[in-house]
Amino acid sequence: MKRVIAVANQKGGVGKTTTAVNLAASFTVMHRRVLLIDIDPQGNATTGCGVDKHGIACGSCEVLLGEHSAAEAIVQLASAPAPAPAPMTESADAGACTPAYDHDDVGGTPLHPLSIMPANQDLTSAEVRLLALGAGREQRLRQALAPIRDSYDLILIDCPPALNMLTVNALVAADGVVIPMQCEYYALEGLSSLVSTIEQIQATANPTLQIEGILRTMFDPRNNLANEVSAQLMVHFGERVFRTLVPRNVRLAEAPSFGRPALEHDPNSRGALAYLALAGEMLRRDDEMRDGTGITAPAPTSAPTPAPAPPDAAADAFSGLST
Ligand SMILES: Nc1ncnc2c1ncn2[C@@H]1O[C@H](COP(=O)(O)OP(=O)(O)O)[C@@H](O)[C@H]1O
Ligand SMILES: [Mg+2]
Repeated sequence: MKRVIAVANQKGGVGKTTTAVNLAASFTVMHRRVLLIDIDPQGNATTGCGVDKHGIACGSCEVLLGEHSAAEAIVQLASAPAPAPAPMTESADAGACTPAYDHDDVGGTPLHPLSIMPANQDLTSAEVRLLALGAGREQRLRQALAPIRDSYDLILIDCPPALNMLTVNALVAADGVVIPMQCEYYALEGLSSLVSTIEQIQATANPTLQIEGILRTMFDPRNNLANEVSAQLMVHFGERVFRTLVPRNVRLAEAPSFGRPALEHDPNSRGALAYLALAGEMLRRDDEMRDGTGITAPAPTSAPTPAPAPPDAAADAFSGLST
């Protein structure tokens, strides 16, 4: 698997940063070479990995502005010994259909410690300066990553909660997009705008961009609306919805305050296991794709356009959706 993946959703608080950090950690313990790029001025992925965002002399801001190369902005984190957690089963996730990962290469000290390109609030001014530039401003990140792309198996980009020039740079640089979403009614409106943005980028700057998958986060199987929205997502996006569900889990929420991923904070927590399962699912999909046995991820054909409706009318939100 060699891919650049943007973790994007313009809605805030849906689990982008949690997904980027914990997925990066999961691939690292699967002995992949992983680079995590923070392009959110909030710098949450940076802090969540234990890097002091106030002490950054060179990060994604300087890279986007062309003041430093990507290689100069990368910090290699100390390699923490990886746990060997037990595989997650269906019952372990309170009824959620999270698949057990079936890779036996998990555990031991990661062969390659996680690398991060950090960010802080300086990125806000970088975005303004980028906007003032002419043609090619959306290609900045893609061009900066070109010399280092082959040094990593996976490059994950944690996007800001906006469809701005920073997110566009991530989508132009990426091969795929992981879309974390909470299964609630208003999340669908955001999905609609994001899918149209992805379509626009496919039609112009990055024709090979794919939706890697939609990830249901903070999932509570006891919540009827969550189940309803989840079922509708499956109907309309089919195989592009990851089978792995990320449950609401306090360890995922508290791990950033220790500056580390949940896999280091509490390796047997349901949250850490869910992201390990997601990494397993992505690798499995990738293998199947190469064998020709897997689903192809078609380009989205239309954006979901949820009609104004009460919160319990999840199905209506998808009327007119033809993906
Ligand atoms: N699965 C989860 N269970 C519990 N809390 C979560 C989970 N995913 C994210 N959170 C918490 O929800 C908040 C928003 O998540 P975050 O990843 O920062 O979202 P985003 O990057 O989309 O704004 C954070 O406080 C985070 O710790
Ligand atoms: Mg975030």
